[in-house]
Amino acid sequence: MDTQIFKQLWQKHYEIVPVQLQKIKQVKGVATGFNANIDAIYKMTGKKLAELIKKVGLSLGDVENIERCRILDEKDFVKGVFKSFSRGIAEEWICENKEVYDWLQKEIGYDKLQIGGQGGIMANVLSSVGVKKVFAHANSLPKLQAEQFAKCDHLLSFDENGNVKPAYQIDRKKDLPLIHWIIEFSRGDTVEVDGKKFKTPKANRFIATYDPLNLKLVLDENFMEKIKKEKLDFVVLSGFHALLAKSGGEALIDKAAERIKEWKQKAPDTLFHLEIASTQDMLIRKAIALKLVPLADSIGINERETIDLLQVLDCKSLAKRCNEQTTAENLLKGISKIKEKTGVKRVQLHMFGLYLTLQDKDFCITPQENFKGMLTAAVVAASKAKTGEVDEKNVKAIPYDVSDVGLIELDSLSVALGQPDLALNGMGRYKSWDLIAVPTILIENPITLVGMGDTISSISLIASR
Ligand code: GLC
Repeated sequence: MDTQIFKQLWQKHYEIVPVQLQKIKQVKGVATGFNANIDAIYKMTGKKLAELIKKVGLSLGDVENIERCRILDEKDFVKGVFKSFSRGIAEEWICENKEVYDWLQKEIGYDKLQIGGQGGIMANVLSSVGVKKVFAHANSLPKLQAEQFAKCDHLLSFDENGNVKPAYQIDRKKDLPLIHWIIEFSRGDTVEVDGKKFKTPKANRFIATYDPLNLKLVLDENFMEKIKKEKLDFVVLSGFHALLAKSGGEALIDKAAERIKEWKQKAPDTLFHLEIASTQDMLIRKAIALKLVPLADSIGINERETIDLLQVLDCKSLAKRCNEQTTAENLLKGISKIKEKTGVKRVQLHMFGLYLTLQDKDFCITPQENFKGMLTAAVVAASKAKTGEVDEKNVKAIPYDVSDVGLIELDSLSVALGQPDLALNGMGRYKSWDLIAVPTILIENPITLVGMGDTISSISLIASR
């Protein structure tokens, strides 16, 4: 089909979005958990990175030789940034050393603070688009952290005495601010190491996390008890990715699985979604895949996380294929394998330029509803990328400029599957499941990228109606 006509066809599909944005306001209650933290955003240039590499004494050989994806000293931090920067990929490494954290504060600093953690980000996004009541779990809520929550009176959390209050007004004085470093970089920037130049192919971010509470998956018992009494439409969970097997992370996942099961029993009509995050510890990743994913009704995942999960689900050759050729066709095989091995009813992949949802035929959200939710998610995510936040006025101002990359990927997928309808109206099938596809809206110079996946997954679900 003529590219222009193809694009116009999808622009037309996007015209449903304002209606969906209104419908979101009918959603009565959502709870988000378990991780909320402060993100310290820092824009890293290639020049600054080159200086840092020199300063910590790394050679070209060193930066290219990554032996561990953990931060035990400053060199690990710089290597992590270099890896993400040079490949344009998103990674998060755990910083296990308070001295490195202090060094980061001194050496890097930050441009701005904002709410972080999948739970925190989703709570802000959902309250900003008008969900009636959003309950955010927070294992730490001192003033500095509470202030990062949206100034919405319907975004709620619990104070130290178990009283429910607008989250932004809480000040649990004894709590620690949990700060993560978000090192963002722009596409096309170049870093030079020992005379060799690396150009970053894609704007992305590297996260260095020092977070004693989320690392131990500390739960706020006030939230856990009181939330069971609330009538919720959705529960969106995440925050297991920072656990470490060597510090008992697998047992913590077992315990969390028990708590989630209890919660689900008390809330049989609530849809539980799990957002997969970049999890470096293979044993933890495996425990998430085998113990938490099967408990969820739905999961959200990106291309990297798909490859990562395949690795721990004994699908190494498919993981390799997805890694070598990160196409929609390969990734669809990937998410279908994940669905098959875990039994989860709905998997939504957000890849560069395209979203794919694979779900059971009798899933409680219809393919049509899902399609509308995915279109809405693309517009809200584009607005967040462009302006740095989610605000109704900005969301409405986003032009439906459907991405060429997404259209090309969608077209090849529909040809490979022999399903022209997939390219034309996003509706298809794969094995015995429904497949829904939406090419997204890409923003050329995004202000921020952190939390994009969380925004896409949560809006996509909540706007599916
Ligand atoms: C991870 C990080 C957190 C960030 C979030 C974005 O949870 O720890 O800092 O805000 O990812 O998705």
